[in-house]
Amino acid sequence: MAAQINPSILSADFARLADEAKAVEGADWLHVDVMDNHFVPNLTLGVPVVESLARATDTPLDCHLMIEAPDRWAPQYVEAGASSVTFHVEAAAAPVRLAREIRAKGARASMALRPATPIEPYEDLLPELDMLLIMTVEPGFGGQAFLDIMLPKIRRTRELISKHGLELWLQVDGGVSASTIERCADAGADVFVAGSAVYGASDPAEAVRVLRNQAEG
Ligand code: DX5
Ligand code: ZN
Repeated sequence: MAAQINPSILSADFARLADEAKAVEGADWLHVDVMDNHFVPNLTLGVPVVESLARATDTPLDCHLMIEAPDRWAPQYVEAGASSVTFHVEAAAAPVRLAREIRAKGARASMALRPATPIEPYEDLLPELDMLLIMTVEPGFGGQAFLDIMLPKIRRTRELISKHGLELWLQVDGGVSASTIERCADAGADVFVAGSAVYGASDPAEAVRVLRNQAEG
């Protein structure tokens, strides 16, 4: 699969979200970070904002839920217009049931792992998912330094995906930039979230193109 670049609107201007979405037209997805100040020590946006954003852009929304009780909330993000919904396995009470519910409602189901959460216990769940997200920073804030120590986990996850012959996408999120994206791609990631590296650039659309070229080597 060609590399996909998902700009994270966490680093955008929240008062101008529709314009900020347009600024990265050509990106594969728009990454929307939902934080509840419980699962992570930060608070961002919720269902009504996702609903408005889905109406304001043709770019599909990739909602990353950094929240408690995703079993209760994730289906509402599909109804709000998200095309992909990621829940954290550390917060989900019933990840298999939740992934099935997200798919049944018509979105791609994705599961995220914090840096300290290993992939191995979840090997048997992989066929239930359309994407797996490996966090390459502790979730909660944009602009943090990429954790190199996550590269072996990315590599092991890619091996598991190949071993089972799955179509699963492998996303990385946190500190992805021109100086780290090649290492992520080499390790086997194919979907790249980038917040500050895109919205911190003078030309965000150009930053997306540069990152994609780098990821594709
Ligand atoms: C962090 C969020 C990320 C964040 C990435 O918890 O999940 O999506 O926006 O920002 P950068 O690319 O600046 O590390
Ligand atoms: Zn994110």
